[in-house]
Amino acid sequence: MLTRRNVLRAGATAGVLAAVPGGLVVGSRSGTARAAGSPFTTPLKVPAPLRPVRLVGQDFYRLTTREADVTMLPGTTTRIRSFNGTMSPLIVARRGRPVVIEQINRLDVPFSMHLHGGHTPEGSDGHPRNQVDPGGRRIFRYPNAQDAATLWIHDHTHHGHAENAYRGLAATYIVTDEFEESLPLPKGQYDVTLQMRDADFEENGALVWDLHGFEDRHTILVNGRPRPFFEVAARKYRLRLVNTSNERLFLLQLGEGEEFTHIATDGGLLPAPVPTRMLQLWPGERHEIVVDFARYGIGRKLVLNNAYPYEGESPEVMRFDVVRDADDPSSVPSQLRPVPDFGTSEIEREFTMSFNRQTGEHLINGKPFDIDRVDIRPKLGVTETWKITNADTQFGIPHSMHPHLDTFKILDRNGKPPAAAEAGLKDTITVMAGESARIQLRFTDYEGLYMYHCHLMGHLQMGMMGQMKITR
Ligand code: C2O
Ligand code: CU
Ligand code: CU
Repeated sequence: MLTRRNVLRAGATAGVLAAVPGGLVVGSRSGTARAAGSPFTTPLKVPAPLRPVRLVGQDFYRLTTREADVTMLPGTTTRIRSFNGTMSPLIVARRGRPVVIEQINRLDVPFSMHLHGGHTPEGSDGHPRNQVDPGGRRIFRYPNAQDAATLWIHDHTHHGHAENAYRGLAATYIVTDEFEESLPLPKGQYDVTLQMRDADFEENGALVWDLHGFEDRHTILVNGRPRPFFEVAARKYRLRLVNTSNERLFLLQLGEGEEFTHIATDGGLLPAPVPTRMLQLWPGERHEIVVDFARYGIGRKLVLNNAYPYEGESPEVMRFDVVRDADDPSSVPSQLRPVPDFGTSEIEREFTMSFNRQTGEHLINGKPFDIDRVDIRPKLGVTETWKITNADTQFGIPHSMHPHLDTFKILDRNGKPPAAAEAGLKDTITVMAGESARIQLRFTDYEGLYMYHCHLMGHLQMGMMGQMKITR
């Protein structure tokens, strides 16, 4: 349902983003919005990778989805839906070494595990028709025959994914490879994943769930902690930013507009690093940056801000406190990973995203998702161009497109070549109202039924998804 306030919100997004290239500097505002506690009172929790059972040639994990009581806001307990009882777990995989996960569902709702960004065979992709019912279990096989990148795991049941993600079911999944390891980028404890999202809490710490209540989610969580602080050394860090929110855009800015280096997006390393002062991180997307804290003396505190807070909200996301010295053998090479050539497209398709005010449905090419309908039939290995048009000019709602199975290249936005920050491989692209973008992609290796959809989870739940049957 479109309410007046979310129309305004969505409309305002367009204006803010138009202003981005010039850069914005935000200051703290005194807000009226309900957000939990004062900022920077809880330390960041840095997740350690889950330990697999190592079998010959593969890593085996068991992920049990179940409720758990955790402390997110100081002094309160929050019941979440979790993997193995924790918020924001991390799996680290290696290119070419398969990961096998047994997913056991101990929730009282269905769950369908999807590895977002994974080049995954059909039966392990989390299609809603393969959902695991309460009490059930299923084996997922991830071959990891793909380049190093930061991926994440979330639910894909048709009517439960938004709530399951909101209630805590989001894991980060990193694929590493030899090429990336050979680069002198920051490693080990200096390579940190930051899962960002928003939430709405009751005073007693309980999560408030409302599919359409995104404007009330005023508490920003990083790895499950509200606006945490992170004590860092005066050296370079690689930060992997993952937006697991249902709907929130983070427009990230460090300190008073400090420069940092953008090195990777959804599909992994950019062709070359991009110095920047502002990043847009839309739901489902990943960006990786290198921040050099050696530029700031010990004692310096740098706030990571969201330059696009909701009405009455303060902009802080987290704070970096420079507390010690450290050696720094790392550097960012001037070339990272070239983008493959997909050749000339043989197929062109158009996808128009729109909202039906009467029914509250979000549509692709005029239709809501139908599990019994195949929308498109791509052929393996054939390069396609997709033109994505956001036709929601009346309401100004942003939409995104996320095809499963393979990454894509952005050809242009409104006919203009993409910015350097969008020159790498992507798997999710947001298109503002009245705008269009063209992407080029090629599905490889696996035949089967896969999805493509808007990654604003409320829109996806209200129908903004299609199915593709990929064949030889
Ligand atoms: Cu995050 Cu269908 O995906
Ligand atoms: Cu996905
Ligand atoms: Cu949408």
